[in-house]
Amino acid sequence: MPSSPNRKTFDLVVAANRLPVDQVITESGETEWRRSPGGLVTAMDSVMRDQPGAWVGWAGEAGEAPAPFDQDGTHLVPVALTAEDVRLYYEGFSNDTLWPIYHDVIVPASFHREWWAAYQRVNERFAEAVADVAAPGARIWVQDYQLQLAPALIRALRPDVRIGWFNHIPFPPVELFAQLPWRGQLLRGLLGADFLGFQRQADAQNFVRACRQLIHAETKAGTVAVDDGSGRRVRAGAIPISIDFNGLEELARQPSVAERAAEIREQLGNPKVLMLGVDRLDYTKGIRHRLKAYQELLADGHVGPPEATLVQVATPSRERVAAYQHLRADVEQTVGRINGDLGLIGSPAVHYLHHAYPREEMAALFRAADVMLVTPLRDGMNLVAKEYVTCRFDLGGALVLSEFTGAWHELHQAFSCNPHDIEGLKQTILRAINTPPREKQRIMRALRKRVADHDVQRWAARFLAALDAAPDRPEQAP
Ligand code: ADP
Ligand code: F6P
Repeated sequence: MPSSPNRKTFDLVVAANRLPVDQVITESGETEWRRSPGGLVTAMDSVMRDQPGAWVGWAGEAGEAPAPFDQDGTHLVPVALTAEDVRLYYEGFSNDTLWPIYHDVIVPASFHREWWAAYQRVNERFAEAVADVAAPGARIWVQDYQLQLAPALIRALRPDVRIGWFNHIPFPPVELFAQLPWRGQLLRGLLGADFLGFQRQADAQNFVRACRQLIHAETKAGTVAVDDGSGRRVRAGAIPISIDFNGLEELARQPSVAERAAEIREQLGNPKVLMLGVDRLDYTKGIRHRLKAYQELLADGHVGPPEATLVQVATPSRERVAAYQHLRADVEQTVGRINGDLGLIGSPAVHYLHHAYPREEMAALFRAADVMLVTPLRDGMNLVAKEYVTCRFDLGGALVLSEFTGAWHELHQAFSCNPHDIEGLKQTILRAINTPPREKQRIMRALRKRVADHDVQRWAARFLAALDAAPDRPEQAP
């Protein structure tokens, strides 16, 4: 399909469920643009600042799409979602069917045919928007589980472009993926791409195995043959995502951030041990397990206010999905109980904050925290872990990190934990507190080196190199 006349076209087009900014209508009726939540935006925003391109995505409000506009050198192309699309495609199929299946079914997944129909039609809409702004031979970079049908749909509209897809979340074992009534269509949607990127080798292997077992595709050395008579092969590989190490470290080094970090500690009563959790309020993040371990450490008398305290930032997320509503109620009740049972006047045991903050405030929190608690039950990567070590150029602090995060596969020198093992988690937190400073500095140096050497710029370069090379040659790391 040729692009519309007079429409700007681009050699690089990113398609993601969300734009990097959300349109917010304020109480006074004015329109504001605010940074969108989540790791995908954190990573892709830094990548797109370095190169010209277009970003196709939803502006975060149901209704008509705002007109395309330019921001920080990127051309943003809003895609319209009706209120029904938001309910069925975004809250329903994306976040109540796929999200639980792709995260070990921590909560049960729901299957509804009308959700699937909405997922198909929204993917078609995204594919059309991409086809419209892609220059001849452009590179298209589709993001994440919300857009798994888009690669094949884009190929049908624009056979001239090169298509890559990156999955920011885990790809499930075939035994779980097989539950999806539309598993064949999802696999065939993805096979419209030239290259499929995953966080871990195990995720890429799960995908290839699903193709072999569920659609009987021929597979060989990380590639899958497409049975459409074209002789095409699609490569699947692991390219773990990262963060803008230099940009964030520079921010963390600013004197105003240091001052704010000191102020935060002061406002918390200068505790000897400040523990910190920063997560979207999502059941995958292990917040309940973390609170349970902390509560028991307090009850056992191992730690407690005023010497020790926990700040838990729980970012609002997917607030109309029932599992998220239950989680919020549960977490807030638990925080209330811990503070009621174990807090002191002027020294609550948990400081619970249900807000989004500017990047400077996040950097100050990371600089202030003695122990960072990252305890997901399953997480594709977890950029918060990488952000914490990036901000600790002083080599202070300690990272407690769940084995069930993508980040752990790169940062396994951290204080590793299995969040299901509450006793083990308690011991790990105590070790993170009590290990001598010199040993903690040695660990932090190693963690920082890994993130510095594998930053988001390198991730993007590797992905695009793999996209250019696939499927004929294996990816060459620059
Ligand atoms: P996910 O993509 O599942 O949300 P990640 O840990 O990979 O998880 O990424 C979360 C991103 O959102 C990080 O860049 C983190 O700093 C940011 N973030 C999380 N909570 C907040 C908050 N309350 N305010 C601002 N940014 C936040
Ligand atoms: O990668 C996980 C992810 O779903 C991203 O796609 C998204 O940006 C982030 O988490 C936040 O979720 P949501 O866009 O549903 O608020």
